[in-house]
This record gives sequence, C-alpha cells and structure tokens, in this order.
Amino acid sequence: MPNAATREAVKRLLGPRWSVRLRCWLDGKPVPRWGNLRRTRPFSARFGMDRGTPVDRHYLHQFFERHQRFITGDVLEVHQPVYTARFGSAVRTSHTVDIDPRVRPTYLCDLAAPGDVIPAARYDCFLIHNTLHLIADFEAALRAAARAVRPGGVVLAATPVLMPLDSVAPAEYWRPTVGGWRTLADRTWPGCEVTVRAHGNCLVAVAAMLGLAAEELLPAELDAEDPHYPVLVTAACRKLAA
Ligand SMILES: C[S@@+](CC[C@H](N)C(=O)[O-])C[C@H]1O[C@@H](n2cnc3c(N)ncnc32)[C@H](O)[C@@H]1O
Repeated sequence: MPNAATREAVKRLLGPRWSVRLRCWLDGKPVPRWGNLRRTRPFSARFGMDRGTPVDRHYLHQFFERHQRFITGDVLEVHQPVYTARFGSAVRTSHTVDIDPRVRPTYLCDLAAPGDVIPAARYDCFLIHNTLHLIADFEAALRAAARAVRPGGVVLAATPVLMPLDSVAPAEYWRPTVGGWRTLADRTWPGCEVTVRAHGNCLVAVAAMLGLAAEELLPAELDAEDPHYPVLVTAACRKLAA
C-alpha cells in the first residue's frame, strides 16, 4: 500500500480525472463508457416525442390502464379528452377544463380558482395529468379536483419528477415526490382513499434527461422501480361514498 505522500504525488501527476479512473480500476468499480451519451444537448428537446413515446408517458399509460375501470360515466379531463377516449369505457359525458381558450375546453377557468364554473360532484372521474406542476397554487387545484368528483368518484393525477422542464410552458412550479404528494393529499383530500406511487429508475431518468423514448429501452429496464429515481409520480384519489 503506497503511503499518503506517494498517493498525493500520483494524484498530482495524473490529475483529477485519471486519478478517479485509477481509483475505480483499483477498487474494481466499473467506469462508464459514455459513447455518444457524452453530450450537453439532449437527443430530443421534446421529451423524446419526436422519436417515440416519452418515458413518463409510458408510466402514465400504465397508470390509466391499471385504473381503467374508473374511467367511466361522466369523465372530466384537462386539455383534450385524449385519455378519456383511449382508456374510458361506457363514458356518458366527456368534458374538458383548461385555462387556455385556444383549447376550447368545456370549462375555461383557472383550476386553482374555478369558482362555480365546474359544477361540484358532477363527475365520476377526473384525469389531471401533466398539469398540476404548472399551477402555482397546487393545493387549491387539488381541492378543486376533489370538489368536481362525486362521492365514489376518482381523481387520477400524475406529475413529473425527473423529467426535463417544459420549454413551452410559461412556468413550472412543483415537482412533488411521493412524500410531497402524500402531504399535499393529506391536506387537500381528507377522508379520501389515496394511493401514491413513484415510477422509474436511474436508467429511465437518464433516458428522460437525454430526450430518449421509451421504445429505446427494454421492457425490464422500464419496469425496474427504484424509489430514489422517480420519473413520474401518480396519485389515485377515491372520494369515499357519503
Ligand atoms: C401539458 S397539458 C396536459 C394535458 C395534455 N393533454 C397532455 O397530454 O400533456 C397542460 C394543460 O394544462 C393547462 N393549464 C395550465 N395551467 C392551468 C390552470 N391553472 N388551470 C387550468 N388549466 C391549466 C395548460 O393550458 C395545458 O393545456
């Protein structure tokens, strides 16, 4: 074992980069082979949408699939009724809400302050994905979402965590973790049955940062769950029947 002075001399000689590489070799730790991943600009600036399915959407689709039985009856969705049409069954009414008049939603309002624009207890299901992190008053939006569903109805919500920020959105405010979501749900959805889950792992998070698509990973790689690397957090809130 070389003494401290020799180790310091070797480190000075090699410089920091090669010193770390040498230490990894000596400790038997793998060194990364970056290839064309060594880049400061992503492969896609649109979450991989121009290559395939954005990785967070992969988990979002699985979430809606798992909760498909609740997407029925009177369904409200943010923006356009894309997922109501895709995952819903026996849908009686399909309505939308958005703050942007260009979307021509059923309810044109700020979800954080909808007043009486959205009728209370009108819906069996409210799909609110990729939106709450864009709303400064997250808690007010959660209260409004719960108000819109009737007893026995569900709110299916999802927010990104380890995903790039949206370059088109005017602002992004929140990236709640599972713990953050549980705290918010306790405050805003009392008396509801709430299930919060994280989806993702370090590889999927790297793919997300680089703008790679879900199809560029293997199913087993997408399925591996590491709670320390949440790419998407989903929350299902069931309003208990009175
Ligand atoms: C990224 S889209 C999400 C839904 C879209 N169908 C999707 O799949 O990504 C977010 C939508 O939330 C809307 N939005 C943002 N802030 C809002 C607010 N405070 N109240 C209501 N809608 C809001 C935006 O106008 C936008 O249409």
